[in-house]
Amino acid sequence: MNIGIIGGGAIGLLCASYLTQYHDVTVFTRRNEQAEEIRAFGIERTVKGETCQASVHAQTGITGEFDLLIVTVKYHHLQDVLSELSTLSPHRILFLQNGMAHLLDLENWKTGHSLYIGVVEHGAMKMSDHEVNHTGIGIIKWGAFQHEAAADIKKALNETSFHFQMVYMDEWKKLLQEKLLVNVCINPLTTLLHVRNGALIQNPSYEYMMKCAFEEAVSILSLPEKERLWAYVNTVCENTAENQSSMLQDIVKGRQTERKAILGYLLKKAQAQGVAVPHLTFFDRSLEVLEKKQTKSFE
Ligand code: PAF
Repeated sequence: MNIGIIGGGAIGLLCASYLTQYHDVTVFTRRNEQAEEIRAFGIERTVKGETCQASVHAQTGITGEFDLLIVTVKYHHLQDVLSELSTLSPHRILFLQNGMAHLLDLENWKTGHSLYIGVVEHGAMKMSDHEVNHTGIGIIKWGAFQHEAAADIKKALNETSFHFQMVYMDEWKKLLQEKLLVNVCINPLTTLLHVRNGALIQNPSYEYMMKCAFEEAVSILSLPEKERLWAYVNTVCENTAENQSSMLQDIVKGRQTERKAILGYLLKKAQAQGVAVPHLTFFDRSLEVLEKKQTKSFE
């Protein structure tokens, strides 16, 4: 397939570096310097101490015809990307944002494109404009947002590397809720504590705080199967133990975080339900302060 990947962050580089093994891939970046660097050096991906180079096309400005476009930008850049995508002929577009705030934007988007939604369970760190570390091998689960999934995409995305599986699922809403739960348990705490994901299950005090966030989120989202979900959150911490969560990476690099897409979404829901969520509220306010302070270090 001819695949366009929108966004040159950690997840964009990771997806491009694996998908290019089976497909013709173009990465769309915001900055021209990044596109130039990717064209010159390819994408260097390091996984389990081994580095390999993947060659892909790279450009700014989303133009061309693709069998599939994959949007990997953070939620706060989504509106700009949707405006650009509105100018294209109908495409099949897969969205890989954290949180659930983007669902509302997609529901309200009047478009002829066919939309798909996915969740990323990989840990990845962008080391430079063309280098990415695959710090946690997970999986990408995806489903059809409004349309039936095209059989050719399902088949083509099944052909992926062992370290980068893309699995089709019918229940995308459940997937997103469960991923939101993972993100609200892992991202704010790792950022506030300045620790890698694994610390949350290695230190009992951190684990206790994570459980408090878990209980509040599960109740807001009315999720059944609490035991399975707690085990799932723990498994993601284990699989991505060496990873700095994306929120921690954002704070360290002085970038805007996904606080609103993750905590903001849940706090709004809690407010609508008239439920008090003291831990999530505390995380949200503390992160807001941290965002303004911009601590640029990670020991
Ligand atoms: O946002 C992240 O960092 C990732 O979604 C995850 C799975 C929590 C791993 O760090």
